[in-house]
Amino acid sequence: MEPPQQCLLILTLILLSTTTSSTTLDPKQLTALQSLNIPTTTDPCTTSTCDNSSPFRHLLTLNLSNCPPHLQISNTALKSLSSLTSLSILDCPSLPLPHFPPQLSTNLQSFSAINSLTKLSGLFLSHLTNLTSLTISNTTINSTHPSIILYPMKSLSFLAITQAKLNGLFPKHWHINLTHIDLSHNSLFGKIPTSLTRLENLQILNLSSNGITGTIPDSIGDLLALQTLSLSLNSLSGSVPETILAMPELVHLDLGSNQLNGTVPAFISEMRNLKYLNLEYNKFHGVMPFNESTLKRFEVFKIGGNNNLCYNQTTISSKFKLGISPCDKYGLPIPPPPAKDSLSDGSTSRRSSADDDDDDDDGDVKSDPDMNHKGPSKVVLGVAIGLSSIVFLIVFLVLLSKWCG
Ligand SMILES: *[C@@H]1O[C@H](CO)[C@@H](O)[C@H](O)[C@H]1NC(C)=O
Ligand SMILES: *[C@@H]1O[C@H](CO)[C@@H](O)[C@H](O)[C@H]1NC(C)=O
Ligand SMILES: *[C@@H]1O[C@H](CO)[C@@H](O)[C@H](O)[C@H]1NC(C)=O
Ligand SMILES: *[C@@H]1O[C@H](CO)[C@@H](O)[C@H](O)[C@H]1NC(C)=O
Ligand SMILES: *[C@@H]1O[C@H](CO)[C@@H](O)[C@H](O)[C@H]1NC(C)=O
Ligand SMILES: *[C@@H]1O[C@H](CO)[C@@H](O)[C@H](O)[C@H]1NC(C)=O
Ligand SMILES: *[C@@H]1O[C@H](CO)[C@@H](O)[C@H](O)[C@H]1NC(C)=O
Ligand SMILES: *[C@@H]1O[C@H](CO)[C@@H](O)[C@H](O)[C@H]1NC(C)=O
Ligand SMILES: *[C@@H]1O[C@H](CO)[C@@H](O)[C@H](O)[C@H]1NC(C)=O
Repeated sequence: MEPPQQCLLILTLILLSTTTSSTTLDPKQLTALQSLNIPTTTDPCTTSTCDNSSPFRHLLTLNLSNCPPHLQISNTALKSLSSLTSLSILDCPSLPLPHFPPQLSTNLQSFSAINSLTKLSGLFLSHLTNLTSLTISNTTINSTHPSIILYPMKSLSFLAITQAKLNGLFPKHWHINLTHIDLSHNSLFGKIPTSLTRLENLQILNLSSNGITGTIPDSIGDLLALQTLSLSLNSLSGSVPETILAMPELVHLDLGSNQLNGTVPAFISEMRNLKYLNLEYNKFHGVMPFNESTLKRFEVFKIGGNNNLCYNQTTISSKFKLGISPCDKYGLPIPPPPAKDSLSDGSTSRRSSADDDDDDDDGDVKSDPDMNHKGPSKVVLGVAIGLSSIVFLIVFLVLLSKWCG
């Protein structure tokens, strides 16, 4: 079936009329772009989004990146760019924070500053009241009250303020439309407030690398849409609440490098979507509860650095390299043997001499002919190590006889 000719004709006419009637950008905005070193030889509306007003179109989005070192944004330029709803500044670290006219502040729905802007203040950000998306990364914010920044942004859904030296008490009031919160790598302190756990649309929560204390609230399990929870590198204590079992979408759980204690909860193995689990460097104790099939289901599993935790040698092979000790029959960690220095020295020097066979024993045997050039004293040492060396010796001798003959 071919589409009716009339339809195609009408479509072409519409396309033609929109492109021909609206290629001209507001001359004031052209001048503003030129003052920002942005080339205007091609129509800016081909790379940025513009509205369709006539006689002149207006910019809706603007991306500024890699600014020349002494660039400044004048008040006049910004005033004429007040039509913007999205402004993104990337890699302009010495750009002084410009003055935003009120109309621009309230118009903006998306603002992003990555490795950009000097003198960015919390007060400035608090005027961007209509934002749905805010990204500040690798950019210092002078503020000791993060709630002053966030409280006015009632429509915010995407929030990422990372590596911003954001300092102050973790905000207690959260607007309900948030789906993404990344406040990692700052200096926030205080507890995780239960108000945060009322965000029923929240999918990502990353509070990694801050100074957050207290326990993980039981109400964390109310975050039914949560896919990623990272609370690593804080000072959280207490145990892992059983309610996390109630989060059906959770894929990524990172609780590493805290002071969490108690036993590692066995119920985690019932979380079918979980692919990434990091519990390393905490204070968990007892027997690690997962079996091999659960461990294999995880793409990433980290549990090392928990000195009082151990694994059951009869159910889990040591090839999993968990970074914790095996258990004795009482379920306590067997301390690693103290006097294994000379032995391990020998094995490392051997491993480094044959560089391609770390993993399996068969590989060891096959690649041993390489040792040809290394003289018979190595063989004597090999015999001393054990049975496997006899195999090695036979292979060596066979090859040696071939080589000589
Ligand atoms: C402009 O920046 C935004 C946000 O950083 C990004 O999503 C968008 O792809 C960028 N657009 C262009 C044309 O570079
Ligand atoms: C805020 O954004 C909405 C779209 O999300 C827009 O319709 C509205 O005009 C904006 N408000 C102001 C004051 O600019
Ligand atoms: C972060 O900012 C510093 C200083 O401006 C810069 O040297 C560094 O390259 C930036 N890092 C990233 C990942 O952008
Ligand atoms: C941060 O803001 C305070 C008060 O607004 C001001 O006194 C101080 O000089 C600012 N610090 C920096 C580094 O800009
Ligand atoms: C929250 O999101 C919904 C759906 O996207 C929207 O209708 C509502 O206006 C938003 N609330 C606020 C305060 O922006
Ligand atoms: C959380 O934030 C840290 C630090 O910024 C980052 O390294 C990590 O990748 C983030 N985690 C997720 C799951 O995005
Ligand atoms: C775990 O830590 C909490 C808070 O630090 C403490 O009250 C509790 O006694 C600890 N429990 C165990 C089993 O060590
Ligand atoms: C491993 O543990 C899971 C969850 O506890 C269980 O369903 C499964 O049957 C166990 N598998 C084996 C081989 O023991
Ligand atoms: C290790 O597993 C075996 C077999 O399931 C069990 O009999 C034994 O009690 C376990 N040991 C410890 C210390 O949990």
